[in-house]
Order: sequence, then structure tokens, then C-alpha cells
Amino acid sequence: MRKPVIAGNWKMHKTRDEALQFIFNINVKVPNKEFVETVICAQSPVLRDLVKRQGDHLRIGAQNMHEATEGAFTGEVSAALLENIGVSYVVLGHSERREYYNETDSSVNKKTHQALRFDLTPIVCVGESLEIRESGDTNLHISAQIKAGLKGLSAEQIRDTIIAYEPIWAIGTGKTATPEQANDTIKNIRKVISSLYNASVAEDVRILYGGSVKPENIDALMAESDIDGALVGGASLSAKDFLTLVEAANPNT
Ligand code: 13P
Repeated sequence: MRKPVIAGNWKMHKTRDEALQFIFNINVKVPNKEFVETVICAQSPVLRDLVKRQGDHLRIGAQNMHEATEGAFTGEVSAALLENIGVSYVVLGHSERREYYNETDSSVNKKTHQALRFDLTPIVCVGESLEIRESGDTNLHISAQIKAGLKGLSAEQIRDTIIAYEPIWAIGTGKTATPEQANDTIKNIRKVISSLYNASVAEDVRILYGGSVKPENIDALMAESDIDGALVGGASLSAKDFLTLVEAANPNT
């Protein structure tokens, strides 16, 4: 049984006051972390404040980090510091970072290794553009992203990694992939992992769907065989909506 994960990606939203109010509203209401992993990924300057108030069952994640341990990299954030302040997860290779900040499969790969070295759980994002989806090359594209982005990880490290399948055309557009489309692509990711490792590793790795996930579509997504949760942008900004998503992922409700 794979444990579900609901991760909110706030992107560049919320001031410190807004972030603290949100955490105060939800931290006692999220389900036991034995049943669902609930994560909020926020902007770097508030991470420590949020960690201090995360409570027993919520965990905090960063949205990016640098692959080096330290050095002359002005403006960057290290895995060492994230670990040091109690951050537990880090989103890597989000399509917005690939598009606006030249993130590549190769940099995602280095960052994934570095995150694991510092006991951070990487949430590695992959996904295709509308053009690729329409040309029928989605599986080819995602498979190349998986092979290059996760290169060199041991079977144990892959099991400690979360993959997020986020079709670019569904992010922030209100257009969700159908549950079947999302499930088929995620099944294909498992096939790739099975070919790189083995069937048992492919069966164990958690793979999330992301792209316009909201209270109205979460049940249908969670009902699919291979979708283990969601990476959520817009709907994670509302405490009420976010809690609805987390409850929908809770196998005990
Ligand atoms: P939306 O949920 O706003 O479509 O964003 C998805 C996303 O990019 C999460 O990382």
C-alpha cells in the first residue's frame, strides 16, 4: 500500500502573516501522518516560521534548492540549510522553473541526489506541453525526463523520492487531465521505473498528479489505480479547499 501525499505548492504567494494564519487554521486538522502525508511548500523566507508551527502531522517543503552544498551562488538556497531549519520536502524541476530559470533534467538530477543526501524528500516534477500531448509523444517525453532526472539513484533512493506528473497544459489553466489520462501516463512512469529497477520498486514509488486539482475533481483522481495524491497550486491557497483535498486522500474517511 502506497501512502497518499497531498502537497500544496504555494508558488510565490502569501506574506508571512498570511502563511502563519493558514498554518494555524490547518495544522490541527490535517489527518494523522501515518495515513496521509500533508505538505505545504512555501517561499524560502517563511520556511523556518512554518516548521516551528507545523504541528504533529503537517510537514513543510521548499520549492527549489541548489545542487551544491555551499559556495558562491548568490541568491540560491542549499539543501544543508533546508535540512538544518527542519524542512522535510523540496519540489524539484517544476515546469515553471524549467521554463523561466533554465532548469534541465541534468540539474534536476544533481539536485535530487543532493536533496536525498540531506534527508529531504524530493518531489520531482515531470510533464509534457500541449504540443507534445497532441503529437502523441507524451510517454516518450516523460520517459526521457524520468530516465535523465532520476539517473544514478539506488532503488532505495527511488523509493524515498516522490514523482509529480504535471502536464504543463493543465497547470493554472483550469483544464485538468482526465483521471484516465493522468492514470495512463502515471502507469507508463511505473513501467519506465520497472525497466530501470524492477516491478517491486515501480509498485512502491509514490506518483502524484498535478494540474488544476480542486475539491471538485480530487475524488475522481484519487479513485484511479496509480495516482497516489496531488501536487496542488491554486487550490492550496485556501485552507478550506486544501483540507478538503487532504481529507479526500485519507483512506480512513
Ligand atoms: P494549479 O493547481 O494551480 O494548476 O498548479 C499546479 C502546480 O503547478 C502545482 O505544482
